[in-house]
Amino acid sequence: MAHSSQNSSTIGTPLSKSAKKIMLLGCGELGKEVIISLQRLGCEVIGVDRYENAPGHQVAHRSHVIDMTDAAALRKVIEQEQPHIIVPEIEAIATDELAKIEAENLAEIIPTARATQLTMNREGIRKLAAEELGLKTSKFDFVESIEDLKNAIQQTTGLPAIVKPVMSSSGKGQSEIKTEADIKTAWDYAMSGGRVSGGRIIVEEKINFDYEITLLTVRAIGRNGEIETHFCAPIGHIQKDGDYIESWQPQEMTPKALENAQHIAKTITSNLGGRGIFGVELFVAGDEVWFSEVSPRPHDTGMATMATQRQTEFDLHARAILGLPVNTELTSPGASAVIYGGRDEDAICFDNIDKALLIEGSDIRLFGKPESFIKRRMGVATVFADTTEKAREKAKQAASLVKPISSTE
Ligand SMILES: Nc1ncnc2c1ncn2[C@@H]1O[C@H](COP(=O)(O)OP(=O)(O)O)[C@@H](O)[C@H]1O
Ligand SMILES: [Mg+2]
Repeated sequence: MAHSSQNSSTIGTPLSKSAKKIMLLGCGELGKEVIISLQRLGCEVIGVDRYENAPGHQVAHRSHVIDMTDAAALRKVIEQEQPHIIVPEIEAIATDELAKIEAENLAEIIPTARATQLTMNREGIRKLAAEELGLKTSKFDFVESIEDLKNAIQQTTGLPAIVKPVMSSSGKGQSEIKTEADIKTAWDYAMSGGRVSGGRIIVEEKINFDYEITLLTVRAIGRNGEIETHFCAPIGHIQKDGDYIESWQPQEMTPKALENAQHIAKTITSNLGGRGIFGVELFVAGDEVWFSEVSPRPHDTGMATMATQRQTEFDLHARAILGLPVNTELTSPGASAVIYGGRDEDAICFDNIDKALLIEGSDIRLFGKPESFIKRRMGVATVFADTTEKAREKAKQAASLVKPISSTE
């Protein structure tokens, strides 16, 4: 491979022999922003996704379309491109193959291959957090039949409970069991919603939280050459049907709750290791904090940082990946609100962007997804303001002003 004797944080010239080559596995809206941040630092970026013209493909130096769960196809594209660093942006990847690539020293996996293996399955990360690291989580169990689900509810979680396939994201197959009458529906729904058909589910006690946060946590090289842990201000968010609809930063917390949250985030991210940003999802009630899950990559709710931080979560990830120092400073309270497709159609248009941008402090990102669905996230409005309350109101207003229309209208 073309690794040289340069210092590991040296950056060369893109599209030349000296290029620092980074491969993104997943080119959605988050990957697109990471690519832009990397390119601002002079990296050569290769975007890989499962469909053509994904948002990140549109800004990468080169693109590939493969099934990233196919180990052979994944290895082939890595051997062809010979990236120095591989940055997974989604969970559904042949992570065992990434572990082999890492072991063979073919490329560095961000943050580590083990982190991608553990977090692609709810069982791996939950057992690590609760059983090995002793972090506070909801009561939970893993089951493979409806009888075991009934027993787990009786013996462990009680009602209400939440059911999720172990391999799923964005709320797919996830539902709440309020009474025993809901058990069968929840089971059937979970069986239909996983990435692999049938299989295992997690059943969890429902936590009656005051609010939930994403604590963006960055592992980056500091002044003395060792990895340091940095925290962004907590991000509050609202989830509906498994997807976030709005987020804001900073979420106010009691000092004790913030301390608990940072302790949990530091513990889990130190164990996962490597460099990069992590989205640590936590539930909070008073001073009490529960670990929920962690993404070893930028987090969708962190899109608010495009309005609030000196370095966005994407800039932070890019710097951490490259072995560079980071600055997690907040510059203003702010918020983000999702813009949905609103229609099932290709090549839609967005009207009234001018009206949305007349709202003070607002900005808009349109991701450029070729195909729109009614509930697909197609863009986001971000707003900074002097309070999060004002920012939230304005972000929702800006997002609702943007009107998806047909290209034939
Ligand atoms: N045990 C729980 N108690 C209360 N709410 C929960 C629980 N588990 C999940 N939720 C709610 O559902 C959302 C999505 O669940 P999560 O486990 O983060 O799945 P995903 O991987 O799809 O993001 C959470 O952000 C939270 O709002
Ligand atoms: Mg989540």
